[in-house]
Amino acid sequence: MNRPGPVSSRLPEFTWDTLDAAAALAAAHPDGPINLSMGTPVDPVPQVIRQALADASDAPGYPLTAGTRVLRDAITGWVSRVCGAGADGFGVLPTIGSKELVAWLPTLLGVGPGDVVVVPSIAYPTYEDGARLAGATTVRADSLTAVGPTSRVRLVWVNSPGNPTGRVLPATHLRKVVDWARERGAVVASDECYLPLGWDAEPVSVLAPEVCGGSYDSVLAVHSLSKRSNLAGYRAGFVAGDPALVAELLKIRKHAGMIVPAPVQAAMVAALRDERHADEQRERYRARRETLRAAFVGAGFTVEHSEAGLYLWLTRGEDCWATVDWLARRGILVAAGVFYGPGARQYVRAALTESDERIAAVAARLA
Ligand SMILES: Cc1ncc(COP(=O)(O)O)c(C=O)c1O
Repeated sequence: MNRPGPVSSRLPEFTWDTLDAAAALAAAHPDGPINLSMGTPVDPVPQVIRQALADASDAPGYPLTAGTRVLRDAITGWVSRVCGAGADGFGVLPTIGSKELVAWLPTLLGVGPGDVVVVPSIAYPTYEDGARLAGATTVRADSLTAVGPTSRVRLVWVNSPGNPTGRVLPATHLRKVVDWARERGAVVASDECYLPLGWDAEPVSVLAPEVCGGSYDSVLAVHSLSKRSNLAGYRAGFVAGDPALVAELLKIRKHAGMIVPAPVQAAMVAALRDERHADEQRERYRARRETLRAAFVGAGFTVEHSEAGLYLWLTRGEDCWATVDWLARRGILVAAGVFYGPGARQYVRAALTESDERIAAVAARLA
């Protein structure tokens, strides 16, 4: 009998391991390495959130997969305020960070072999990983005319502001994607985890009326508190949109035990109700971005897109590994463009997530 291979064989090698040599080179710098590769928050978790987590730490019972009423209200309020959605009419569901939802969404939606998942041509790798886990086929495309009329598209991922490029998709573009998907019975999943970080452009949510037309049919917005609120360690995200789809996700997730821990649910309420810490964090990133941008441009790099989000998308017009090596020799570690798609071979990605002192050191090393 022909046994299928292990599920992990559907997935590529874990890309970050390929940075090990550059990491070792950067670590050898006499003033220590500066890690701009991963994009992991380094600033403290805001006190108001830590307090809420601590106050909710006596949690002997099972939490609700749907989230507490107070959490659902906090998510609904935030989505209305920040995404410009109506006051209600959309479903909401907390998730254990957003990566797990990105990875499992095709499976949870019943997407499978023979189906197509469309992802941006240069993209966060987990969109493709999720399609592979479901046994579906991935098509990389930024314009749906490239997809072709006959393919069985079930799910379209958009990501604005984008990782890694920092590109912002205008409302007219998003509207076309939504119309296209609705005509074909496909779902649009909009990964909006960088929505609060607009610099030179104002990011738009798929739930904004100019995009979805005030109906949440077939659209899902995927959000994360990892970057907005420095909560990557808590694993705190949520999905909002089509109430029937959200109800379906909830049904499966209840069976599967995909539950956000009760103290984290309480922390999420505090985070979503407070914009002050998010504004302060945004200003930290704004200042770091200015410093990094000037430093890289001064060193001869070209910055492309990067109008929003947590990264600078950089090129020196050479293979990304040559750039990774050049920077590693100066003690600076960045992510290689090839992690994000074959079209990104000449790019590297620099995250804004180092301390002010380390970001200033980048400028000194590149001067
Ligand atoms: C585009 C994008 N989506 C989703 C995630 C996952 O974030 P988290 O699981 O921390 O919510 C990331 C993390 O870097 C990301 O860049």
